[in-house]
Amino acid sequence: MTHLYKSVPVRSSEITPKDTYLSRRDFMKAATVATGAALLSACAPSVADEIQNAEPVPTSSATDELGDPLNTYEDITNYNNYYEFTVDKQQVAAEAKGFTTSPWTVEVGGLVNKPKTFGIEDLLKEFPQEERIYRLRCVEAWSMVIPWEGFTLAALLNMVEPTSDAKYVRFETINRPEEMPGLKSPFYPWPYQEGLRLDEAMNDLTLLATGLYGEPNVPQNGAPIRLVVPWKYGFKSIKSIVKIELVAEMPATLWNSIAPNEYGFYANVNPEVNHPRWSQATERRIGELSRRPSLSFNGYGEQVAALYDGMSLVENY
Ligand code: MTE
Repeated sequence: MTHLYKSVPVRSSEITPKDTYLSRRDFMKAATVATGAALLSACAPSVADEIQNAEPVPTSSATDELGDPLNTYEDITNYNNYYEFTVDKQQVAAEAKGFTTSPWTVEVGGLVNKPKTFGIEDLLKEFPQEERIYRLRCVEAWSMVIPWEGFTLAALLNMVEPTSDAKYVRFETINRPEEMPGLKSPFYPWPYQEGLRLDEAMNDLTLLATGLYGEPNVPQNGAPIRLVVPWKYGFKSIKSIVKIELVAEMPATLWNSIAPNEYGFYANVNPEVNHPRWSQATERRIGELSRRPSLSFNGYGEQVAALYDGMSLVENY
């Protein structure tokens, strides 16, 4: 049986600004690190010094609409998937540091009446930024709660006016080998590409995110602009977009072309359809010890289940 969960995009205005205080969790983490260091070295700073010197990180008392706390800025920016840099999630931030995100343009074209190439500053000016707290559920079965900032993809698409032949939207990440060491890997058909059906792209949940926690995106999270499709596995949420094209046929996508039986085009979060190599019934929320049940459509069924009326979600995984 499929359960539908209500979800309302939550404004994150209560988010405590960066630099204010250390959360209890970070306080505990700092204390644990310091204790460990003290055991290993006679020269280790005292626990009190360590806590005083710990980097303040943005924290929040806000939750998502299901009542779950947000992940910390530190978690969100230090545990990433971005294969153009490295496959090591904890090294992406270091590898992506200094990545050039300005100037930046996004070309929007294909089957539209008014194709246009936007500078990132035009997008920020043209479309009011709003805050949305979304769960991000990776196909690898870890998840986070992230306060994004951005604007709906629908707002952008309405401006360029898709023609009646447009049925899908295709997205492409920048391909810049001199700054992205992972692009040397011949195993992947670069550039990273993703796609949505037009009605999925026009859904109000589908966001072009330009920031998180009130700060502009950092390279490891897909600066300057990335897609966020919260009811789908995270690989659909393509980073550092330079091209958006309206097309008539279902576009090829990077993961689907490598392993179509493992990564479907739809990729809706579905605890009842397992990945061929692991279960999707539960997930590990970063920062929690025990696993939690995964939710159908990642908890956004009320807004999106109707998009798939009459479709088999087992065949169209
Ligand atoms: N986009 C690009 N260009 N390259 C990638 O490797 N990884 C995807 C997605 N977008 C990826 C990408 C995957 S598998 C996930 S889970 C999310 O980005 C992770 O986003 P985050 O690192 O901001 O949490």
